[in-house]
Amino acid sequence: MASLMQDLSAAASAAFEAMGLEARWGDIRRSDKPELADFQCNGAMGAAKKAGKIPRDVAAEVAAALKENDMVLSAEVAGPGFINIRVSDDALAARAEAVRGEKMAGAEGASDPQVTVIDFGGPNVAKPMHVGHLRSAVIGDTLRRLLTFLGDQVTGDVHLGDWGLQMGHLVTELQDEQPGLIYFDADFTGPYPEEPPVTIDDLARMYPAASAKAKDDPARLERSQKAVAELQAGRPGYRALLKHFIDVSVAALKIDYEFLNVHFDLWKGESDVDDLIPDLVEQFKRAGLAEEDGGAVIVRIARDSDKKEMPPVMLINSRGGTGYHTTDLATIMDRMETLQPTPQRMLYVVDQRQALHFEQVFRAAEMVGLIDEGRLEHIGFGTVNGPDGKPFKTREGGVLRLADLNAMALEEAQKKIAEAGKLPEDMGAEEREEVAASVALAALRFSDLMNTRTTNYVFDLDKFTSFEGKTGPYLLYAAVRVKSLLRRAEADGNEAGDIAIGHDAERALVLQLDNFAFACLQAREKRMPHVLCEHLYNLAQAFSSFYSALPIASESDATLRASRLGLASAVLKQLETGLDLLGIRVPERM
Ligand code: ARG
Repeated sequence: MASLMQDLSAAASAAFEAMGLEARWGDIRRSDKPELADFQCNGAMGAAKKAGKIPRDVAAEVAAALKENDMVLSAEVAGPGFINIRVSDDALAARAEAVRGEKMAGAEGASDPQVTVIDFGGPNVAKPMHVGHLRSAVIGDTLRRLLTFLGDQVTGDVHLGDWGLQMGHLVTELQDEQPGLIYFDADFTGPYPEEPPVTIDDLARMYPAASAKAKDDPARLERSQKAVAELQAGRPGYRALLKHFIDVSVAALKIDYEFLNVHFDLWKGESDVDDLIPDLVEQFKRAGLAEEDGGAVIVRIARDSDKKEMPPVMLINSRGGTGYHTTDLATIMDRMETLQPTPQRMLYVVDQRQALHFEQVFRAAEMVGLIDEGRLEHIGFGTVNGPDGKPFKTREGGVLRLADLNAMALEEAQKKIAEAGKLPEDMGAEEREEVAASVALAALRFSDLMNTRTTNYVFDLDKFTSFEGKTGPYLLYAAVRVKSLLRRAEADGNEAGDIAIGHDAERALVLQLDNFAFACLQAREKRMPHVLCEHLYNLAQAFSSFYSALPIASESDATLRASRLGLASAVLKQLETGLDLLGIRVPERM
């Protein structure tokens, strides 16, 4: 069953069309004056202006058509041509029943489902993830969940950064530390030992060390550059090391992602598309798009209409190596050739500051025909800042590792839970741990997602973990509260029953439930998870008003009591479904 908002929109659109006007004027929104109306339609003014008609006349005709509809209690023209609509109690009750009974808790699949790759996470081998990687992981994973929920066929790819100069640094640093390793033998061909020669801590230490040395020492830099070139050319010992580095890194990455409830379908990386590069370059050459430039091969992508400078794409650098542009292009080729069904869209959830890179890559990919135009989207996001408004740093001024951030969130969650004294006395240690992990997860994910994706936000763990305000823990607590209300009622022999609507607080609550379908579709269309966060927060608030306005389990009339419990289960269903889309786990009790 479609939402009331969608049904009303369809009816209003049909009425506009019957008058020879465009269907889009029939868009229905929640009323911004709930004391006057449930929904409103503002299209008559625009439609009339375009058609040279009188707005109130157009509105009156649409209102008359709406009144024909069973679910409409009243439809009235107001002011210059607004239409104020009230829906019937029966329509609201049926809607609440649908939310409670339907798999999607009142949401509707998208009308244009797409085969979509979401490229997110983007961690780099050897460089530990930092707070900047949080956003890509959380926003990307949420879009993955949301789009899948709405019917898109989604593949989430972590796209490891494992091809740059950092790999050369690791090789040379390891060579200095353990020169005797067989990987360095010029005639090494494998097989290589199963045991990796480094741990994740080694990697975390070696990369910054080598990179610092290379800064002051051109010879050291040159060695690392040469090592990458040899690695890229396929030197077996170095390729074996690369595989070790990747394995060790991935094992560590999985721990951090698991904590954040972030999941990927593919664990591919830049190095995986190495063998496609010759073919890629060939395609650009055949199309007459590749240009020789001082030993490098470049693709000019600038257009006359450009307002800013558009440097060319670098396919092969003057040392014969390949970099970030090349691997991204080859990855598009790989996805188009290997994924089944063929992707129709690729979304890149990456820091806004990489906008130029993606503009360059997308243009080149479209020019050479790797994919149709307009199918590659950069889903950029703002930075996570400290209280000083600059990108977040540790107290010592270094970058904060994601693993440490997760640990801090867990600790803060434990503190907040203890302060609130919320957990039941009889709860065992293991369950307490799980609850704390859920609160930390809710805090981190919700506070990141509730901010408009494109803006920066200030990282404030104290605020994020609070049970009050617009926070993840507040929403968790709201959901758990409904859960325990229903559980207690059931234990007392009070089952949920048929839903009937009679009271204002009930109406308001169902109208909020009805908004879920729109919020999900809107969040998908704009790639903006905060729209869904906003909806869930409003739903929790509407439940809270309902809860304080009316008795639920303590209602003395059995039919009313069963109805209100039914309404509460509809709310729980939608809250849990929505929180799951945000990647937030709801504990059984807390
Ligand atoms: N590894 C990159 C970085 O840390 C992000 C990768 C984003 N994805 C992509 N296909 N380029 O900056």
